[in-house]
Amino acid sequence: MRLSLFRRLLLAALLLVIVWTLFGPSGLGEELLSLSLASLLPAPASPGPPLALPRLLIPNKDACHGPGSPPFLLILVCTAPENLNQRNAIRASWGGQREARGLRVQTLFLLGEPRPTWGSHENDLARESAAQGDILQAAFQDSYRNLTLKTLSGLNWAYKHCPMARYILKTDDDVFVNVPELVSELVRRGGRWEQWERGREAEAGDEEWEGDSPTLESQPVPLLYLGRVHWRVHPSRRPGGKHQLSEEQWPPTWGPFPPYASGTGYVLSVSAVQLILKVASRSPPLPLEDVFVGISARRGGLTPTHCVRLAGATHYPLDRCCYGKFLLTSHRLDPWKMQEAWKLVGGSDGERTAPFCSWFQGVLGILRCRVIAWLHS
Ligand SMILES: *[C@@H]1O[C@H](CO)[C@@H](O)[C@H](O)[C@H]1NC(C)=O
Repeated sequence: MRLSLFRRLLLAALLLVIVWTLFGPSGLGEELLSLSLASLLPAPASPGPPLALPRLLIPNKDACHGPGSPPFLLILVCTAPENLNQRNAIRASWGGQREARGLRVQTLFLLGEPRPTWGSHENDLARESAAQGDILQAAFQDSYRNLTLKTLSGLNWAYKHCPMARYILKTDDDVFVNVPELVSELVRRGGRWEQWERGREAEAGDEEWEGDSPTLESQPVPLLYLGRVHWRVHPSRRPGGKHQLSEEQWPPTWGPFPPYASGTGYVLSVSAVQLILKVASRSPPLPLEDVFVGISARRGGLTPTHCVRLAGATHYPLDRCCYGKFLLTSHRLDPWKMQEAWKLVGGSDGERTAPFCSWFQGVLGILRCRVIAWLHS
């Protein structure tokens, strides 16, 4: 069969579009790949013994309570004691949002203990906590290599003291979070939205809940582990490197890490948190929290779902359309840029002033954002 030139050109163009869509910067290919992962997973490991986690110095047990509905989304921000400016920038911008799309959002900061050299500032944290009410502090030395401990303490806190939240976002203090769009994305992905409504009613009728007994089992929350997925990453052996792992920590025979979601921002449903905590004590104790969570999730039989709208380690240049509509997170914003980004999207008024994107920007979507990030890098 001979095709006319026109048809051949048409076919070639079509192929190009398909290849571009799947493997190009749209990230669709990766999203599809992550969906197929579940079928390749080994059977879940049996639960391990309970985790031995440091006690809480500032436990903030009632942060999720209070009048009104429980949080739909709990945001845990890993921060270091000395990063007060980053925390304040978040409080004055996206972290100040208590509600999005009519659902409650709660943002808390996770900290360890300041290094002794920080010395005289020790009481500052207690004061900050009293003033802001958004601090969780655990009794371990705050350092980059203790980040797994910090994250696990936060997840454990969520499981114990905020089990009625539906989703938990783990992020860092140099990340801009597009709260309304993230909530919309989760509502969309969570699908069975009414279930949460029902869970909430059950919660309201359950007078017993007050103490430490989580009622997770009674609530149907679909498993979700959503993020910017990293594939086949090999451990760094560079001595002194921030992400370095020794051969004892990760023997070469283990190969690359299983797929995991970038620690700059990933979402776990509360049921996924429970599952990870159950198996975490059997995972190798790695200082890389995102890899650790990925491994634990895998052991529990849960694979990450890729979402291009979560930035991972990418910093996106300030752009109203990208920050207001398409991105859910962007990495590496200092306090000044955080404020600029917040102003750009119109603060809490958001879209009320003018649409974030022009018609054409809207059509190009996340693709345009990724291209400008690439051009600026
Ligand atoms: C992690 O925290 C523990 C408990 O405070 C401490 O003993 C240890 O030295 C810390 N590790 C690092 C690498 O800072």
